[in-house]
Amino acid sequence: MNSETFRKNIKQILIPEADLQAKIKEVGAQISKEYDGKPLLLVSILNGAFVFMADLCRAITIPCETAFMCAKSYYSGTVSTGVVKITMDLQQDIIDTGRTLNDVKKMLLARNPLSLKIITLLDKPDRRLVDLKADLSLFTIPDLFVIGYGLDCGELYRNLPYIAEYDEEGQAE
Ligand code: IMP
Ligand code: MG
Repeated sequence: MNSETFRKNIKQILIPEADLQAKIKEVGAQISKEYDGKPLLLVSILNGAFVFMADLCRAITIPCETAFMCAKSYYSGTVSTGVVKITMDLQQDIIDTGRTLNDVKKMLLARNPLSLKIITLLDKPDRRLVDLKADLSLFTIPDLFVIGYGLDCGELYRNLPYIAEYDEEGQAE
């Protein structure tokens, strides 16, 4: 894809970089307080949550371990097909229909953690198909397909430092 097409698919910035960073600092401080003196393992779901994890773990000031899992929620274009595949175990970024996190949550609970909390950067409550609530959602967004800050469309746009609405027509100026 050339740079011009890339730019034209970025419709509007929904969450600017400064807002993301400010909120993550706040949540990092909150987690540091809540888990002080307790073992803390941050599990991030690749690929989408890699940027969020990198910023969140650096906003946490207490000892913590980090691990990654890879879950793929299959999309045809910008719509979830409902097929969730765990492609790399223990190793979300966003809750859309909720299927991905619901499956991952079941898997992690089966391993009997002391406690399990779900933190999501973005929540699209209008699109929920399964009953799943995160313990902490940093931002609630409307039913729009978004890109940036780790989130992709066709594997591109993950490197944008902000969250933007994707323009399928590529008409954005
Ligand atoms: P769910 O299983 O339908 O909740 O979908 C969650 C996964 O789908 C996320 O972890 C993302 O990888 C992807 N996804 C959902 N909505 C968006 C979006 O607006 N932009 C980019 N990826 C999305
Ligand atoms: Mg994706």
